[in-house]
Amino acid sequence: MVASEHGTGPGGSTDLLRVLPPEEKPSPRAPWVAVIRRLGVRHRGRIARHLQALDERDRYLRFGYMATDAQIQSYVDSLDFERDAIFGIYNRRLELVAMAHVAFSVDRNFDACAEFGVSVLPSVRGHGYGTKLFARAMRHARNEGVQLMFIHALSENAAMINIARHAGATVEHDGSEASAYLRLPPATFDSRVGEMLAEQLAQTDYRLKVQARQFWKFISGLQEVRRGVREARHKSAP
Ligand SMILES: CC(C)(COP(=O)(O)OP(=O)(O)OC[C@H]1O[C@@H](n2cnc3c(N)ncnc32)[C@H](O)[C@@H]1OP(=O)(O)O)[C@@H](O)C(=O)NCCC(=O)NCCS
Repeated sequence: MVASEHGTGPGGSTDLLRVLPPEEKPSPRAPWVAVIRRLGVRHRGRIARHLQALDERDRYLRFGYMATDAQIQSYVDSLDFERDAIFGIYNRRLELVAMAHVAFSVDRNFDACAEFGVSVLPSVRGHGYGTKLFARAMRHARNEGVQLMFIHALSENAAMINIARHAGATVEHDGSEASAYLRLPPATFDSRVGEMLAEQLAQTDYRLKVQARQFWKFISGLQEVRRGVREARHKSAP
């Protein structure tokens, strides 16, 4: 959700806030293995498609107002992949099904602070992706010297508040909004190596998914050709 001028959202008027019916807590689902990778400039298009696939309610929960496609696009265009960290989870079809933005403070007085924003597509919710992205973001922020991680959510956002609470964050409610903050321990050799290994694993996983997708395209191309040849033979047979 939006917290500041430079944050995890496009910014916008909270006048647009309106109360939507609360979402039911989903029945427990099995946790899925999540391979989380850091996203770069090349992923901008997929990030935009992911966020624009969110419905009105989810946009409201994610950004604090119902961001339009154009507002989402301008947020995505303004993402600074060097300064901030954007993490994602891809499915086998290389669709970005979940993503998180860790926005580092641009104000030198608060350079030990970062803000967290996240979204998971409805079809894969409840399997722990939100929780795992938060853990990944915390590890990265900690390794970057961040001491306080902030999460701004609407009070009705039970899922986000659960994630923050489980991680040990202090949650404060102020009317329709909630702020959570989490004190991060200093980086250690293990936290740095752990992050490096996780990133290498994620890069390999992504490359394999790209290759698998290209191979399937190649196979289906071959099948098309074979089908064409078979049909041509059939037609020309006496
Ligand atoms: C918030 C969000 C990221 C959670 O993603 P997720 O992958 O479903 O989260 P998890 O599977 O890790 O579940 C997190 C916890 O919230 C609980 N939860 C999930 N949906 C819930 C709901 N609608 N009501 C109450 N609790 C809910 C889960 O049971 C889980 O708690 P548990 O660990 O005690 O079982 C996802 O719902 C989302 O993208 N929402 C729209 C955008 C948004 O709200 N972003 C956050 C503001 S920045």
